[in-house]
Amino acid sequence: MSMSQRMSTATPAPFASRPLHPGFGIEVTDLDLSNPDSDAVVDALVSALDTHSLILVRGQTLSNARHVDISRRFGDLLTHVLKQFLTTGLPEIYVLSNVSEQGKPIGNHKEGWNWHSDLSYVAEPSMGSLLYSVEVPPEGADTLFASMHLAWESLPPATQTRIRNMTATHSYEGYYSRAFADRAPLTDEQKARTPDVVHPVVRTHPTTGRLSLYVGQDIVKQIDGLPAEESTSLLAALNAHAISDAFTYRHKWQQGDLIIWDNRCTMHCATPYDDNRYRRVMHRTTVAGTRPF
Ligand code: SIN
Repeated sequence: MSMSQRMSTATPAPFASRPLHPGFGIEVTDLDLSNPDSDAVVDALVSALDTHSLILVRGQTLSNARHVDISRRFGDLLTHVLKQFLTTGLPEIYVLSNVSEQGKPIGNHKEGWNWHSDLSYVAEPSMGSLLYSVEVPPEGADTLFASMHLAWESLPPATQTRIRNMTATHSYEGYYSRAFADRAPLTDEQKARTPDVVHPVVRTHPTTGRLSLYVGQDIVKQIDGLPAEESTSLLAALNAHAISDAFTYRHKWQQGDLIIWDNRCTMHCATPYDDNRYRRVMHRTTVAGTRPF
């Protein structure tokens, strides 16, 4: 099986894979997800996500409907509050793109150019996302992923003790106004759907019980109960630690890549590209999750 290997669990996994990073993430090989016969394998990927936090499958040709069907095997799907970017005809697909058609953007450009976990700004954030690359630039636009399990586990014990029971406030409005300062503000309806929420700074994976750091840039407004300056510096220190090279995987996209990640124990960050020269079209589905604890 050359580069690929069977995963060594008691019951062999029904797919071949290789690690992407020493601490998390696998690439699953020899898999055609367009074929509904692969559904049993998709169900195995649902459990594999708990162990590996991130799964890459390259070389796929997925219709929008198939993307949604695969995603539903992970759980119920959420629809994004920015409805203007649900442009495929299937409201479960959120489009990220710099492309406009008939003078209208088909997707949200410059979305996620900050370290975050998807939908951390709602009371029950997403458990996972499935991002499919429809069209990608030949250079730039990599996505970085960081394991928040590794980030937590490598913190000094004194810091672990200090932050173990802390909470933080996550704010979509705060993020939106910083990331998209040149756009019209959120509507009252969008604000009503995204009030600020409070989550633990250290969360427990509901399936494995493993702990992870739950922080992020821009969306996380403050660590609660601390003077503003202390909150800012602690948050900056935790974010800097969390995105250390040692815990990070950089993904260089090819057309037809599908990445499935666990939002409960990873953060990710999209990176810039020459958006005057190149087109980028990405389709994301977002799986419902439960309240972090
Ligand atoms: C996201 O934050 O989900 C977007 C990631 C990307 O576009 O690479």
